Amino acid sequence: MFEYAPAPESRDVVDIKPSYGLFIGGEFTDGTGTPFKTVNPASEEVLSEVASASADDVDRAVRAAREAFGTWSAMPGSERAKYLFRIARIIQERSRELAVLESLDNGKPIRESRDVDLPLVAAHFFYYAGWADKLSYAGYGPSPRPLGVAGQVIPWNFPLLMLAWKIAPALACGNTVVLKPAETTPLTALLFAEICRQADLPPGVVNIVTGAGETGAALVNHPDVDKVAFTGSTEVGRLIARSVAGTRKKVTLELGGKAANIVFDDAALDQAVEGVVNGIFFNQGHVCCAGSRLLVQESIAEELLEALKRRLATLRLGDPLDKNTDIGAINSAAQLAKIRELSDHGELEGAERWSPACALPERGFWFPPTIFTGVAQSHRIAREEVFGPVLSVLTFRTPAEAVEKANNTPYGLSAGVWTEKGSRILWMADRLRAGVVWANTFNRFDPTSPFGGYKESGYGREGGRHGLEAYLDV
Ligand code: NAI
Ligand code: MG
Repeated sequence: MFEYAPAPESRDVVDIKPSYGLFIGGEFTDGTGTPFKTVNPASEEVLSEVASASADDVDRAVRAAREAFGTWSAMPGSERAKYLFRIARIIQERSRELAVLESLDNGKPIRESRDVDLPLVAAHFFYYAGWADKLSYAGYGPSPRPLGVAGQVIPWNFPLLMLAWKIAPALACGNTVVLKPAETTPLTALLFAEICRQADLPPGVVNIVTGAGETGAALVNHPDVDKVAFTGSTEVGRLIARSVAGTRKKVTLELGGKAANIVFDDAALDQAVEGVVNGIFFNQGHVCCAGSRLLVQESIAEELLEALKRRLATLRLGDPLDKNTDIGAINSAAQLAKIRELSDHGELEGAERWSPACALPERGFWFPPTIFTGVAQSHRIAREEVFGPVLSVLTFRTPAEAVEKANNTPYGLSAGVWTEKGSRILWMADRLRAGVVWANTFNRFDPTSPFGGYKESGYGREGGRHGLEAYLDV
């Protein structure tokens, strides 16, 4: 039996400062809130101390964004595009540094931050840079106008990618932004602030305020914010929807999901197994569109499960900076507690739990890849977003039953269909109430493709031409 030798990526490429301030009006400044620490979830090592923005600091940031809005929005689109292209190129140039920092602060495997997150981040800036001088042809009128100042709050699962999804279209359309990264993963957003300076972006066009929920609330409730964009939990999304109701603010919300990954008996089984693994174990399952419910046709359920278990036994869990690692650390102690609680509940409710033999590191936050079989639709693990490496397996007999079970959720962000039959893919896609339906693939992203949900998964679309609408006065 061959063993893998350790293949750690060097962390020397990143220079983490002992402390960071807020990025307001093109300068790093102190915050007036109590600073907080961000840790490496794989080791619990403190990486840095980060400023916390009070309501006053948020106010300063919004003013800076408002002041910058005049010149930025009046600039010809072709000029704005130059800045966005420049940012995209610098991201590519510094991608190794950004990937290592993302893995350190978030816990995701370097293989993913290097090969998925960073290429998509750069692609997103390139894509929207291309729109900046073509907005008149986007289908939103002859000269669509920007909204003004965007207040943007993002989560910790894809820190830099969610920043790109928020900032790139906003800037391309001529808005200025104040963005709040999540409290457990602020570091790549702060490095992005440095990149804005490197690109000579006019001061105030991008402002980064760090802090926890209170900072986020101060931002979305600020009276001079014209547009609110949020990605995170449905619970906080509800709070935000309530607090902006009756104001002139435009809102987009990207919330939770409980996607069905549906495998028919004619599917290419080995490919489907890879798709199921990618669907739920990518990024430790910290994915809003994760395929957390496997719906498998009864006649192949046993065969598929056996193949799936064999495959899971080969996944490597451990040091996120090791290039051979498939499964990294859970992002925080709080998230780990939530995954444990829901999994324990799954057992209590009578589902059968399985994990491959897999040693967990002693320090840090870890959870083994886990499968639940014998899951009923009423179980909490089948209804609630676990946001961890936990798969619930259910079976079905007919396509109609698959649709009914897949749609039996308060969410509607994504779904996957595995079958050889093209007509069945179209039949299913017509009936699945999900913003994205993947066919014979899963978790595939592209900046040209709109992404967003139905029902409690939120509203509005990000990405593609559709993503411009959220940042234009239409
Ligand atoms: P969260 O929704 O509390 O955090 C997301 C962002 O919102 C963070 O930047 C946070 O500081 C900010 N925030 C928190 N309270 C706020 C408020 N009142 N006003 C404005 N901003 C606020 O998510 P959390 O607590 O990190 O995770 C809890 C659960 O949410 C997870 O277990 C997972 O199920 C789900 N989640 C879903 C995400 C998704 O992309 N669908 C992303 C993150 C979490
Ligand atoms: Mg961290």
